[in-house]
Amino acid sequence: MKGRVGLVLGSGLGSMVDEIEVEESIDFAAAGLPVSGVAGHRGAMVLGKIDGVPAVVMCGRVHLYEGHRASDVTAGVRWMAERGVETLVLTNAAGSLRDDLPPGSWMRITDHLNLTGTSPLEGGPNFQDMTGAYDAAGGRRLQEIATAQGWVLGEGVYAGLRGPQYETPAEIRMLRTMGADAVGMSTVLETMEARRLGLKVVGLSCLTNFGAGMPGACLDHADVVQTGKSAAARMIAVLKEWLREM
Ligand code: HPA
Repeated sequence: MKGRVGLVLGSGLGSMVDEIEVEESIDFAAAGLPVSGVAGHRGAMVLGKIDGVPAVVMCGRVHLYEGHRASDVTAGVRWMAERGVETLVLTNAAGSLRDDLPPGSWMRITDHLNLTGTSPLEGGPNFQDMTGAYDAAGGRRLQEIATAQGWVLGEGVYAGLRGPQYETPAEIRMLRTMGADAVGMSTVLETMEARRLGLKVVGLSCLTNFGAGMPGACLDHADVVQTGKSAAARMIAVLKEWLREM
């Protein structure tokens, strides 16, 4: 594989960083990147190798709901691209809108709905093509590896909202009608910026809860982080195998 792989770790998924043979760890502040205050989001860029593959792991990210602008939210993506990242794996914790994807499931993102009301591309370049923004070949290979390892990696559309509040039950019904399969507060802006920069993007949602108003829905940030933590190991095993093939 040419270039490095970049991994952005969402809520509860920080343990993925333990897989990297660390060469250098740079705090967001030291890297000139905006800093997050949300529990469960570490703020560091960790450079090194994962099973011999050059990688940079972005531990934590900043969000619009903390008052950051779209260009702040995507600063980490630009930082990684400048350091040779060509493939970007964006992970997040998300609410599931699908009965067949219960908490603890994973979904590869096939497409997104940007419902944040903003874009990192404001001011140009205009008219970025967002067709095929999420790399289908890479995502399908991840699904094959998951199947071979004995579990099902789902697929679907991720709706990115601003937050910081979770959705109302009416909003969840609206999102389902709109064709969304998962809902969260990150990822879509990073994907837009990454596509502008010509990076391949793979998006992975850890479904930590059902959307508000769905049977069994329980919306609590501590639970979200805990469910992410328990589901992380399975995805780490799949990602490691995937990286070995690259
Ligand atoms: N909604 C929005 N973001 C989320 C959710 C949710 O239900 N769960 C985890 N992140």
